[in-house]
Amino acid sequence: MLTRTDAKARSLADLPPVQSDSLLALIALCEADPRPDKIDVGVGVFRDGAGNTPILKVMKEAERRLVDTQVTKAYLGSAGDKKFAELLRPILLGEHAADDRIAGVQTPGGCGALRLGFELIATSNPQARVLVGTPTWPNHPPIIAAVGLERVDYPYYERGQGAIRFEDMRNALRDGQPGDVALLHGCCHNPTGADLDAAQWAEVTDLCRERGLIPLVDIAYQGFGRGLDEDAAGLRGILAACDEVIIAQSCDKNFSVYRDRVGSLFVKTGSSEATARAMGHVFQRAREMWSMPPDHGAAAAHIILEDPELHARWLIELAAMRDRINSVRQRIAAADPRLAFIGRQFGMFSMLPLSKDQVLKLREDHAIYMAESGRFNVVGMSDGQIDRFTAAVVEALDA
Ligand SMILES: Cc1ncc(COP(=O)(O)O)c(C=O)c1O
Repeated sequence: MLTRTDAKARSLADLPPVQSDSLLALIALCEADPRPDKIDVGVGVFRDGAGNTPILKVMKEAERRLVDTQVTKAYLGSAGDKKFAELLRPILLGEHAADDRIAGVQTPGGCGALRLGFELIATSNPQARVLVGTPTWPNHPPIIAAVGLERVDYPYYERGQGAIRFEDMRNALRDGQPGDVALLHGCCHNPTGADLDAAQWAEVTDLCRERGLIPLVDIAYQGFGRGLDEDAAGLRGILAACDEVIIAQSCDKNFSVYRDRVGSLFVKTGSSEATARAMGHVFQRAREMWSMPPDHGAAAAHIILEDPELHARWLIELAAMRDRINSVRQRIAAADPRLAFIGRQFGMFSMLPLSKDQVLKLREDHAIYMAESGRFNVVGMSDGQIDRFTAAVVEALDA
């Protein structure tokens, strides 16, 4: 990843080295490990019971249809595939789908949506601060820094307890100034798995409205927690209460098209006219950064969402991914009372209460690879590896 540097490099050769992305370094270490039964729970993709990340069957079918029927690859424009964004509305926005104060645009994945959303904030109010609960997805801080916005961190999660530090979150939002941004994980919090419950969402929503904060909801795993509607319930409550909302959405996980870069940005303001003006800026920023989003993955997802039969098949395959995540969670939770919290969390990630040394020992003694923070992907391991994983983790907790 490129990071900005204060160093006065005059030529490319003068550039200082950047710190390598620790998760990418972890993947390389795991790949180099010759032990046959190594376990890679550092990886950030869904794996099935056999340990693979297959292309969804329904996606293969949609891609076949796309290849057979696509007649041009002419430019689409900065908004990408407009119909794709339309088709996402009922899935993401639910009862707000017809609200003409909300507009959407296709983006290169959730990451592109986040960058574009923060660019919009920085364009409208460079003084806005971004309130971020920590730990958060490691790419949030550099994206916020890249657009020049100030970040204010507050503690979101108590690792030892496996619980949200809601009092701290409440205080941080209360201290927010009008126009500040509250960055919220829509569901399946990465890296902790600890999602707000309905009462907490209601309180966060009230605080955003009362304090005049702009919620920016990052929803990258819709359908991986409880279900498509359930996972978007907090977001929809926010849309009902707040005039200005930004949503950064990813289809990369729930359509299993990670490398195809499929996502969207939705913007809500107080009127359809103001939203149209804001979208003008969104298109302008998108044009400066990537001109237009890559087409293939979104075009295939478009085919799935538009065809009732394919849509139904997608829901079944999505439910199968969700069921695996939740059943592995239950198996790990049942192994030891100290792991019970994992069964109450959602999505692919949770954090084990292990020190860095314990994480490194798991790597050395058991060929189990996870981030030094103790974050692990509950479906990074195959079904056949679960018992060995939990036994090794319990041993580490006992040590
Ligand atoms: C919380 C969160 N937001 C956004 C993203 C970005 O998703 P994408 O791969 O679609 O850019 C991720 C991906 O890991 C994520 O975990």
